Amino acid sequence: MTEDAPEKTADAPGQTPSLEVRDLTVRFAGLTALDAVSFTVAPGSLHAVIGPNGAGKSTCFNVLSGVYRASAGHVHFGPDELTGLPPHRIAALGVARTFQNIALPPYATVADSLMLGRHRLTKAGFLAAGLRLPSAAREAERHRERVQEIAEFTGLERYLDHPAAALPYGLQKLVELGRALCMEPRLLLLDEPVAGMTSDERRRTAAVIAGVREGLGISVVLVEHDMGVVMRLADEVTVLDFGRRIASGPPAEVQRDPEVVRAYLGDTNNSEDAEEGVTS
Ligand SMILES: Nc1ncnc2c1ncn2[C@@H]1O[C@H](COP(=O)(O)OP(=O)(O)OP(=O)(O)O)[C@@H](O)[C@H]1O
Ligand SMILES: [Mg+2]
Repeated sequence: MTEDAPEKTADAPGQTPSLEVRDLTVRFAGLTALDAVSFTVAPGSLHAVIGPNGAGKSTCFNVLSGVYRASAGHVHFGPDELTGLPPHRIAALGVARTFQNIALPPYATVADSLMLGRHRLTKAGFLAAGLRLPSAAREAERHRERVQEIAEFTGLERYLDHPAAALPYGLQKLVELGRALCMEPRLLLLDEPVAGMTSDERRRTAAVIAGVREGLGISVVLVEHDMGVVMRLADEVTVLDFGRRIASGPPAEVQRDPEVVRAYLGDTNNSEDAEEGVTS
């Protein structure tokens, strides 16, 4: 756990560009889930998007990863416009995500689940692999080594042969994170990575996320309700409420913003909580 971050490999795409979200709007019938939201994620930084339930955080991720289409606004990742691209094209640009609800294949081992993350990087193709060509064998070996490295980095190496879906919930969430890392992303979108974890699992996962940012130069967008984790890890925080951006800035500043405190605690907040700023 929390060993040195694995080196970037030859598979890793080039420098991470900045992510620019501009006036992003998503409307569902009768509901504006995101209302002209803008923020910028600086290369290699960790940007948290927080807000009460239903604020539009997962909707934002769904647009960034191509699952939902924006009604208006733009998302640029360096020179590439993500808005309107299908999920596989966005993934090919080096954007990986985890889901709020676990989405692991039911019978796969942890090793297989991590290997799924290598899929987009596989060059040999089915024919070469099927014919057992040496180039395909070499490539498969390289992927296995990388899976091993990322398993060590995330603290999953002991579980590589276990069925992923049979692991405790917190470890399953780490497998999701590991699978996303196996894609060698330049931008990692984490939707509530520590939700449902024990405090020990939270600490370990936060350390892994900190290692990702520090060691791999990957930009991270983190949606999380655990304010301890957000405040420790984030360089910048954007706060959403009812689809609108109500605050943004460094964590300590945002935590004390009166509008943020009001959004979290409601108008009937008790002053003790409000004085402490936003808690989880
Ligand atoms: N596919 C959809 N169709 C209709 N409404 C949707 C859809 N997806 C999300 N919404 C609505 O959009 C709003 C924002 O939802 P979203 O899931 O983005 O919130 P969230 O900030 O991620 O909340 P939570 O913290 O509970 O995960 C909610 O009112 C939700 O019901
Ligand atoms: Mg959500």
